[in-house]
Amino acid sequence: MSSISTSPGEAFSSTTQRAAARAGSWWRASTAGTGTRPPLGRLGHVDVAVVGGGIVGATLALLLARDGARVALVEAGRLGAGTTGGTTAKVSAPQGLVHGRLARDVGEDRAGAFAAANAAALAWMRELVTTEDLDCEWRGRDALTYTAHEDRIDDLRAEAEVCARLGLPASMVDEVPGPTAAVAALRLADQAEMHPRRYVLGLADRAEAAGCIIAEGTRVCGIDAGDPCVLHCDGTTLRANRVVLATLYPLLDRSLHIARVSVQRSYIVGVRTPDPVGAMLYGIDDPMRSLRSTPLPDGHELVLVGGEGHATGRETDTEERYEALAATARDWYPGAPLLHRWSAQDVTSADELPYAEPILGGDGRIFAVTGLRKWGMTLGTAAAHHLADRFAGRPAPHAAAFDHPRVPPVRAIAHAARENAGNGIRLATGRLHPGASSDELEPGQGAVHGPPHRRVAAYRDDDGTLHSHAATCTHLGCEVRFNEAERSWDCPCHASRFDARDGRVLTGPATRRLRPARD
Ligand SMILES: Cc1cc2nc3c(=O)[nH]c(=O)nc-3n(C[C@H](O)[C@H](O)[C@H](O)COP(=O)(O)OP(=O)(O)OC[C@H]3O[C@@H](n4cnc5c(N)ncnc54)[C@H](O)[C@@H]3O)c2cc1C
Ligand code: FES
Repeated sequence: MSSISTSPGEAFSSTTQRAAARAGSWWRASTAGTGTRPPLGRLGHVDVAVVGGGIVGATLALLLARDGARVALVEAGRLGAGTTGGTTAKVSAPQGLVHGRLARDVGEDRAGAFAAANAAALAWMRELVTTEDLDCEWRGRDALTYTAHEDRIDDLRAEAEVCARLGLPASMVDEVPGPTAAVAALRLADQAEMHPRRYVLGLADRAEAAGCIIAEGTRVCGIDAGDPCVLHCDGTTLRANRVVLATLYPLLDRSLHIARVSVQRSYIVGVRTPDPVGAMLYGIDDPMRSLRSTPLPDGHELVLVGGEGHATGRETDTEERYEALAATARDWYPGAPLLHRWSAQDVTSADELPYAEPILGGDGRIFAVTGLRKWGMTLGTAAAHHLADRFAGRPAPHAAAFDHPRVPPVRAIAHAARENAGNGIRLATGRLHPGASSDELEPGQGAVHGPPHRRVAAYRDDDGTLHSHAATCTHLGCEVRFNEAERSWDCPCHASRFDARDGRVLTGPATRRLRPARD
């Protein structure tokens, strides 16, 4: 681990920012090279193929294998290295004001099931970690949703009342640990924080011990629904009686999830300090900030400051997002070195309830989990339990949390319209983003240029080499945009992302790399 110092109040230099960017996610960096599995070999036929090895896929694989099913867990990259490797990993009932919104929009029954599903997931995780000695730096913590403004305390009070009615351990406090200017907070007692990738690797080890086959580096590119379903994976095939898409965003979209969900990218910076934060904080003020810390091997703590969310692919100047977060970190911890920074994305449904259901056109055999609304540690665990119970024919105790109202709440309709506004135009015209020509690009820059239907996504790397691809997203044909901070091509329609150098898929739902540019 390298340490880059700054003096109090001094802005982080671009060299410091780039070093933190190279270090990337602490969760991935601190587990690099751990628990690698080979790609899928000849497998034949399984009861359930779980596609995607994040917290949802790994939890489900373990539950199903322990239920006695023949299970294959197929991951395109590395286990726990997707959004689960980019999270803040607070293991708590969702923070913010969500329970009040749910109670109002979808009713107290569904809101209560949502609260109970999260609470049960937290209890199950704690029990697993404790009884099976799963090494994931698990620490008990309170979750505090705070405000720095007197006139917002009533919002917290109202949320606390709803939470208490729904059975959560909620109370109001006016003493808030940490560096924020909080004047009050809603406290959810006895929640937890952890190292999410160590946790997923621990789940995977236990799933394997129960008979699950795990393959990394194997992207599922297509699925034929049937009896059995046939999964086409990077040159090999797998047959399965049931398939679960635990891919964050379903790679098949026959249920119109596209219209019902939106994808947000958010940012995290990590600074090194001597002391832990002492609680998991989440602000309801603008700009929203999320805060927790995690132990470093040298006895210090890495404080994670998160926020700055925006719809994926709709912003190009993403470097500014990191700078805004770094400015907060610098104010709160003057002189603390910036060691890591990263971003990740998650899916939110219009009514804020998660999806764990069969997809249309999947013959009742293909299921998808999505819409974990940036709270997938507990919600993703709950979704995995929900499906495992269904498959085993057990009653699913929190089914109402996954039961979307037939008539979506008015707010949800407005949200979906807002989030997906323009997708049709982006598909139809594919040339909303004026760009510089390749010759004008400096190292580190990218732009889309060229005439309609021959648009080129051009990126010049730090060595001065130009990398050119067709600017058309291989999912459904929208035009990609350059993400300056991550050096990727991001799609504004359904949030697929591609590497700016070689065009390979970084994040689905796309399954094929960007095509080379035509001369
Ligand atoms: C910045 C940020 C902070 C967050 N903080 C918190 C928090 O504090 N607490 C909390 O509870 N939640 C938090 N969340 C949300 C949480 O991290 C996510 O909800 C959760 O990690 C999603 O898990 P997943 O298994 O659904 O997805 P992922 O972890 O993304 O796993 C999906 C996997 O599927 C694989 N995949 C995709 N396509 C294919 C394919 N075609 N073939 C094979 N594999 C494929 C991917 O490679 C990936 O590994 C946060 C999210 C963000 C973005
Ligand atoms: S068109 Fe769907 S992700 Fe690009």
